[in-house]
Amino acid sequence: SERTNVAIIGMGTVGAGVAQLLIDHGDRTARHAGKTIWLSKAVVRDMKKPRGIDLPEGVLTDSIDDVLNDPSIDVVIQLMGGLSPARETMLRAMEAGKDIVTANKALLAEHGGELFTRARELGRSIAFEAAVAGGIPIIANVSQCLSANQILSLEGILNGTSNFIVSQMDEKGVGYEETVKVAQDLGYAEADPAMDVDGTDAAQKLAILSHLAFGATVDWRDIPRSGIDGLDPDDLSYAGQLGYRIKLLATARLVDGELELSVGPTLVRKGTPMAEVRDAFNAIRVVGDAVGPVFYHGLGAGQMPTASAVVADVIDMAVGRTPITFQTLEYFSKDRPARAVQRD
Ligand code: NAP
Ligand code: HSE
Repeated sequence: SERTNVAIIGMGTVGAGVAQLLIDHGDRTARHAGKTIWLSKAVVRDMKKPRGIDLPEGVLTDSIDDVLNDPSIDVVIQLMGGLSPARETMLRAMEAGKDIVTANKALLAEHGGELFTRARELGRSIAFEAAVAGGIPIIANVSQCLSANQILSLEGILNGTSNFIVSQMDEKGVGYEETVKVAQDLGYAEADPAMDVDGTDAAQKLAILSHLAFGATVDWRDIPRSGIDGLDPDDLSYAGQLGYRIKLLATARLVDGELELSVGPTLVRKGTPMAEVRDAFNAIRVVGDAVGPVFYHGLGAGQMPTASAVVADVIDMAVGRTPITFQTLEYFSKDRPARAVQRD
């Protein structure tokens, strides 16, 4: 049709950024999509809470049924965090004939198998570029742009909040608790920031990337992981004196045909690209057997970088470009058992 109608569910940090891009840059999105992308509804829990954005009359609602029962809505942008009711809402939206764009990596890491299977049964699509590394288009790169390669390894800084905290502590000497609070205020942290600082969020993202890059079905709980919550400021300064920075690295590499995975604070030599990744930036180094090493760097958390990835997925859907799905991948990549190993 002439128009793709979308609804946002969850108007927090990312949802408000997506609404702002769709409203303020409608001309640009229409140019790229070849048609208007129209924000029909935005679902919130509390209608009175300030959202920092002027929505057109009638867009804001506190009823998910306003979206599910509206056959004119084509795409649901699912931006509430957590597992429930996010899972049920996504299933109901697909059953109501809607395609999904989401940034919720916790949900995909936990229930991806069920959600993508249901999407295939219903002939629906789920796009999730924003779920890993915020504004860096790593999902498209790993699953499409590098698809001629056997990926040999993938390592990266996948949690912006942890990197922000460690950067602030290391370079500005700011205390841990204080920097956690700033990361929350800046919209980088999860609703429960424990998931950022204990390595859970990075492990969930690594599980998603490992599926795409290696065709491995990985339960994120099986990935040995530790976070930055146990770091002492002295660790950072001793590492600095020896010429290193400490970064929360997520690593997946093929060793003798098996996949080794880990998440943990790691010494990275100063002056290398990975060591110089600051603030809420993320970086990922991928090695493919044909392309060799490729390095990606960009903002991995925050309102507009994440909205950038979400809206690009919406435009892809409006154009009719099929997003990569786990099923598509399973079609051509043999499932490889992942072996979780402890880091040295
Ligand atoms: P957030 O600021 O906490 O926003 C979540 C929103 O969902 C809140 O506005 C909340 O409503 C709403 N919500 C929760 N349950 C709801 C329900 N049942 N019905 C309607 N609305 C509901 O979180 P966020 O930072 O925007 O993150 C959203 C998702 O994107 C999460 O899955 C997160 O992991 C992911 N993500 C975030 C970032 C980032 O940098 N922030 C980056 C990448 C991915 P109230 O406002 O009423 O509480
Ligand atoms: N809380 C996440 C982070 C948001 O800090 O990286 C991006 O997924």
